[in-house]
Amino acid sequence: MPANSSESHASDARPTARNAAQMAVRTAQPEPGSVKPDAILTIDNVSRSFGGLKAVDVKRLEVQRGVITAFIGPNGAGKTTFFNLLTRFDDPDTGAWNFNGKPMQDQRSYAIAKAGMVRTFQLTKSLGKMSVMDNMMLGAKNQSGESLSRALLKGSWRKQERRVEAQATDLLGRFNLAHMRDEYAATLSGGQRKLLEMARALMSEPELILLDEPMAGVNPALVQSLLGHVQALRDDGVSVLFIEHDMDVIMGISDWIVVLAEGSVIAEGTPEQVSQNDVVVDAYLGTSFAGATGDGARSSEGDEGNQQ
Ligand SMILES: Nc1ncnc2c1ncn2[C@@H]1O[C@H](COP(=O)(O)OP(=O)(O)OP(=O)(O)O)[C@@H](O)[C@H]1O
Ligand SMILES: [Mg+2]
Repeated sequence: MPANSSESHASDARPTARNAAQMAVRTAQPEPGSVKPDAILTIDNVSRSFGGLKAVDVKRLEVQRGVITAFIGPNGAGKTTFFNLLTRFDDPDTGAWNFNGKPMQDQRSYAIAKAGMVRTFQLTKSLGKMSVMDNMMLGAKNQSGESLSRALLKGSWRKQERRVEAQATDLLGRFNLAHMRDEYAATLSGGQRKLLEMARALMSEPELILLDEPMAGVNPALVQSLLGHVQALRDDGVSVLFIEHDMDVIMGISDWIVVLAEGSVIAEGTPEQVSQNDVVVDAYLGTSFAGATGDGARSSEGDEGNQQ
C-alpha cells in the first residue's frame, strides 16, 4: 500500500477499478473451487496432517484480486494452519500455489512476504522488548541497511531510513498508535498489538494481506475503525484474505466468503449466497452461530497477554 494512501480514501479514488473487482467476483460460481475472474492466488491440493488428523485438505481455491475474501469455519477447521502453509510458516504434505502467477510452495516465508503476500497472526507476534516504532521499522522491505555494501553508502541509507520512518509514522497515526511510538510493544493492550501487527504488515506494502482474526481481542470501540482500515486497504487496491468468526463483521465487509470445515472448502459465495447455503448452515452457522457471533469471535482474546 502506498505510504500516502490515506489521501486516496476520497470517494473519487479509483472507484471504477474497485467496483469492477467487487462486481467481477460476484459473477463467480458459488461453489468450492470456483474460477475467479482475476485470481491473485490459486491453490491446488494443499494438505497437512498432524498425526492421524488431516487438518487441511484443500483441493482447489482461487482468491480474487482487489476484494475482501473472508475465510470462515468452526474452531479447529484448519484456517490458521492453511494460512501457515500458504506463507510457509509450516510445511505442507502436498500442494502447490501461485501468487501473481508465480509458484510459492518452494519459497521461504521472507521471500513470500517480499513477493507481496504478507500475513498477520491470530496470536500477535509483536516484539515486546522493542519500541512500537522499531517493530514498525522491522516490517519495512528492501532496507538498504540489510545489505553491507549499500549500508556503506551512508547517504542513501539515511535517506531511505527517513522515508521508512515517515511511512511508519503515517501508519501509526492511521492506526491510532502515534502516541505509543516510543513505548515498548509489551505495554500495548491486546487490541493495540493487533493494530500494531496490521500496521507493521503494511510497512512492506503488500499486494495480498492475510489477516488471522484481526478483530479478536480488540476493544469494541476500536472494531469499527479497524473494519474501516480493512475496507480502506481494499479501496487502495490491496487484496484481503481474512479469518473471522464474527458473522456481523463478515457479512458487513466481505465481498466473497470461503467456508472451511474439517480442513476442506465446503462452500464459497457472496455473503448472501453463503448465508443461505444449507451445507454451511448445517456445518457452521446452524450449530455454532451463537459461538461464532459471541465467544468464538473472541476465542483468542485470553491469549493476547502471553504473546511476547
Ligand atoms: N502444530 C500442531 N500440532 C498438532 N495439531 C495441530 C497443530 N496445529 C493445529 N493442529 C490441529 O489442526 C486442526 C486445525 O487447527 P487450526 O488452528 O488450523 O484451526 P482454526 O480453524 O484456525 O481454528 P480456530 O478458529 O479455533 O482458530 C485442529 O484440530 C488443531 O488442533
Ligand atoms: Mg485459527
